[in-house]
Amino acid sequence: MNENTQATETLARIEHLQIDAEDKLTQIDTVEALRAWQRCYLGRAGAVTQLLRGISALPPAQRPTVGHVANRLRQRLETASAQKKRELGDLRLQHSLRSAALDVTLPGRAQGTGRLHPMTLILREMVQAFRTMGFQVMTGPEIETDDHNFTLLNMPPNHPARDMHDTFYVDAEASGLPRATNWVLRTHTSPNQVRVMWQQDPPIRVVVPGVCYRFDNPDPSHDWMFYQMEGFAIGSDITLPELKGTITGMVQALFGARTRVRFRGTYFPFTEPSLEADLQCTLCAGRGCRLCKGTGWVECIPGGIIHPQVLRNGGIDPGRYSGFAFGAGPNRIAALKYGVEDIRYLYKNDARFLEQFH
Ligand code: DAH
Repeated sequence: MNENTQATETLARIEHLQIDAEDKLTQIDTVEALRAWQRCYLGRAGAVTQLLRGISALPPAQRPTVGHVANRLRQRLETASAQKKRELGDLRLQHSLRSAALDVTLPGRAQGTGRLHPMTLILREMVQAFRTMGFQVMTGPEIETDDHNFTLLNMPPNHPARDMHDTFYVDAEASGLPRATNWVLRTHTSPNQVRVMWQQDPPIRVVVPGVCYRFDNPDPSHDWMFYQMEGFAIGSDITLPELKGTITGMVQALFGARTRVRFRGTYFPFTEPSLEADLQCTLCAGRGCRLCKGTGWVECIPGGIIHPQVLRNGGIDPGRYSGFAFGAGPNRIAALKYGVEDIRYLYKNDARFLEQFH
């Protein structure tokens, strides 16, 4: 083979190599494929590198020309691969931008705003009504002693009125409470009457809202946990009309001045005389429904004149002072105010129910 032929062949190989390399490069669409391509042509054992090394085997006269062409090929392929690398980078960026694209025309996900529970709403309204009549708001314990819950309220052990309170007794030992006394989940908020009398001297005007517990059969107007709002006033001239006026004042503040309240005489061991205040059923306008058990009236606020023995138990002289007390039923009042036909809805925490209240 003469020298010229050898050089011509090498130049032809360079040309083929270029066509082949550039053709493969156009088909590359991943960074990994580009790396393999670089290894194949420009790497240490790559075709172009081998070619350049082979130049020294050419006759000296041919070397400059062939070397020049081969070097140009190497530069050309290096530039092309750098260009390809940039394109692939752009492509990847575009792809990630496209997949993370934010569609500003989509409707947003609504954030639910918190609302007040209907019981919170009714308690606030009731408390507000009593506040404007000069009552102070206090709280008391939910686990009570038998004494406070019953005996101090004129219901000594074995008193038949205790049967009206289906009581949950608390296991003192298991609950870590002193065993010297019996403990109950308070069946009413009335124990706070004596608690407050021990703390304050007359004149007293206090309301105590809170939950109470009874082992009751649940029905549309009863549940084993319920609210009560104890209220009482003690002073030098307190009589039944003050009680009636206070109850009517609260009812009318909540339901409007035309709302009808009915008072009936009844019996409680801790009041004498005792009464029951019924509200006309607002669900059926007095015609009779499930909530009012067909009577048109809902028993909401029992009360009376505080029994002298209870005053004495609270350290107050019944010869000097008298007082009234009541135990309003916020669940039934909420049911009437918000048109809830079953008070058990008030504890179910069903969002579809709760969302109706603002
Ligand atoms: N504590 C009574 C009950 O739950 C309700 C009650 C009646 C409270 C008369 C009073 C009252 O303060 O004077 O059955």
